[in-house]
Amino acid sequence: MAVVLGIETSCDETGVGIVSDGRLLGAALASSMEEHARFGGVVPEIAARAHLESLVPCVRAAFLRAGIAPSEIDAVAVTSGPGLATALQTGLAAAKAYALAWDRPLYGVHHLAGHVAADTLENGPLPSRSVALIVSGGHTSLLLLGDLARDPVVHLGDTRDDAAGEAFDKVARLLGLAYPGGPAVAEAARDGDPGAIVFPRAMLGTGYDFSFSGLKSAVARHVERAGGTLAVPDVAASFQEAVADVLTRKAVEACLANGVDTLVIVGGVAANRRLRDLAAERCRTAGLTLRIPPPGLCTDNGAMIAAVGDLLVTSGAPPSSRHLTADPSAPLSRAHLDPAGAL
Ligand code: KG4
Ligand code: ZN
Repeated sequence: MAVVLGIETSCDETGVGIVSDGRLLGAALASSMEEHARFGGVVPEIAARAHLESLVPCVRAAFLRAGIAPSEIDAVAVTSGPGLATALQTGLAAAKAYALAWDRPLYGVHHLAGHVAADTLENGPLPSRSVALIVSGGHTSLLLLGDLARDPVVHLGDTRDDAAGEAFDKVARLLGLAYPGGPAVAEAARDGDPGAIVFPRAMLGTGYDFSFSGLKSAVARHVERAGGTLAVPDVAASFQEAVADVLTRKAVEACLANGVDTLVIVGGVAANRRLRDLAAERCRTAGLTLRIPPPGLCTDNGAMIAAVGDLLVTSGAPPSSRHLTADPSAPLSRAHLDPAGAL
């Protein structure tokens, strides 16, 4: 059974995980989130420098927690895209150095496939067919999945403008809440009425693409008009309800239309309590099995990248070449980026 080290540095989390046979042996995470807070968003150079400082301590901590030695690692997996160029390069350089020093194969992994694979660490192997809703800070996609390690990923729908997490982050700014916006909006929404304001649900009944920029503008208009009478909890709850409503409605429709009985929801926004509850309710009604990783595995981490590496090694996939480069805008067509021979 292979033991795989995974490294994730695509944004502001430095994640390291060690996975074997679909099981997480140990992980470590460092975040530069607080350093970005005063800028209201991730500053790439700050993130890259923080990765540089945190990477080796995280690798050491992951080994300690897993109770294994570097000599027991069989392969190294790393996020090579998409993400911030300088941040990705830091992780890639480290992964290449480890692979070279230990003489082990290197696997370039698509970040979003990592989000999907995170679920397998908690809920076991995916069925032969499933629909995945990926909702992160940079992406919102509905995907038809087969074998994650072998089959191409089919895009049923994608966002036309803002990603769901981006909408949370922008609305948080409009409401004067802290960065990152998702958890802050969710917290504010706890005391709010989700039916207080009926915000628009874009593109319902028109396939599986999403659009969240109109919703963000509607919140901005509401905030402007409300002035001193702005009820932040009600706006947060009503906005959150609109996002959760559209996401879950389309995801359930996509399963039913494609004859798939399992929905997997992953990515940072999958940590959202209201989204999780509404998805559970609608999947129950539609007779679908819902899989969502625990919140700690929804946001970026290294275990999810190790999980993809583990699936690739187990399926006999050829490693990526040593010339593997970071691809900041890599489209999601496969979990594996730059397998050897593809250059
Ligand atoms: O997947 P992720 O950790 O990083 C990317 O790959 O983008 O997702 C981060 C996004 C951010 O936009 C953050 O605001 C959002 O996930 N997020 C949430 C929650 N926790 C994180 N959005 C809504 N509710 C949450 N509880
Ligand atoms: Zn992510």
